[in-house]
Amino acid sequence: MIFPALFFGAWISEVNAGPIRVGEFASLTGASASFGQSSHKGTKLAVEEINAAGGVLGRPIELITEDDQSQAGQPATIVRKLISQDKVIAILGEVASSKSLEAAPICQQNKIPMISPASTNPKVTEVGDCIFRVCFIDPFQGTVMSKFARENGWKKIAVLTDVKQDYSVGLAEFFIKDFLANGGQIVREQKYSTGDKDFKPQLTSIKASQPDAVFVPGYYAEVSLIAKQAKLLGLKVPLLGGDGWVGDSLLKVAGKSLDGSFFSSHFSSDDASLMVRNFVEKFKAKYGEVPDDMAALGYDSAMILADAIRTAGTTDSGPLRQAIASTASHAGVTGKITLDPQRNASKSAVILTIGDGGFHFVKKVEP
Ligand code: PHE
Repeated sequence: MIFPALFFGAWISEVNAGPIRVGEFASLTGASASFGQSSHKGTKLAVEEINAAGGVLGRPIELITEDDQSQAGQPATIVRKLISQDKVIAILGEVASSKSLEAAPICQQNKIPMISPASTNPKVTEVGDCIFRVCFIDPFQGTVMSKFARENGWKKIAVLTDVKQDYSVGLAEFFIKDFLANGGQIVREQKYSTGDKDFKPQLTSIKASQPDAVFVPGYYAEVSLIAKQAKLLGLKVPLLGGDGWVGDSLLKVAGKSLDGSFFSSHFSSDDASLMVRNFVEKFKAKYGEVPDDMAALGYDSAMILADAIRTAGTTDSGPLRQAIASTASHAGVTGKITLDPQRNASKSAVILTIGDGGFHFVKKVEP
């Protein structure tokens, strides 16, 4: 009788000594490749640091990354594979809210904790108690930009929304609600779809409404074209936007047409705090580039998961879920992260402006 027990014990410890498998799904290619590339670089840097320091619970983390090609339908397939085939204990992803919303129900059904680094639409964490995020949500982000518009004396705003993205639809709604509630006027609402290339009809209509500014809560690929075409049509007012503007091709395509425009986001690499400076240095040394928001949020998401595994003392889903939920005052590169009972992070936003071929810090807004 002793024999099988010994054998079983040895087998168990061997399994436990192996790597802890963590899944990641990201848009490494396709229309929003900039999102996935950045978040993946940040996530990977964190995992390498964790492993260099001995891993967690004495085991290294093995990051299993899958590319969803920026395509609807892919996140569901990938996340199913990560859970059933790779047996991951948790999942990190995605940046775009619509992608996270596709994967979240599958993680929830399987009781596999999922942490989105950057999806800001409120519906993402509403899917269930296994779904978390390390960023703020759009009711806050929308209010930040509405207040900023009012502070600048812009009273008449036109809004141009991407109807294919939960992120864009939600952020437009929260901005409009706050702007109207505070005496502002929405003089025109226009719509487009992800992948569109010609925005002249919508911009012509917007120009005719004589707005003081135009709120464009979209992603960088379309926003860069919108900015260019707006200038060509002689629309001279500032464009306002949210975190979705961040992407390496935004200014490459938009050139100077976004100069004097403003957007809200999560992180500024100009931040003078020691934590951010260290992160920027390490990131630059590894990748030869400055980290953006998604990189910083990807880094924080992996660090929070590692901390939670340590706290739980196990990778078992129940205690791990509980440990992530109790994340408090985590010193992240995107700020201090405390998860609220809805599993969202209440954090400051930054407002950035565009000029001289780059982004410049304007101010930080506390929740
Ligand atoms: N917040 C966006 C969304 O939910 C994603 C995003 C985050 C894009 C940060 C860029 C930077 O879809």
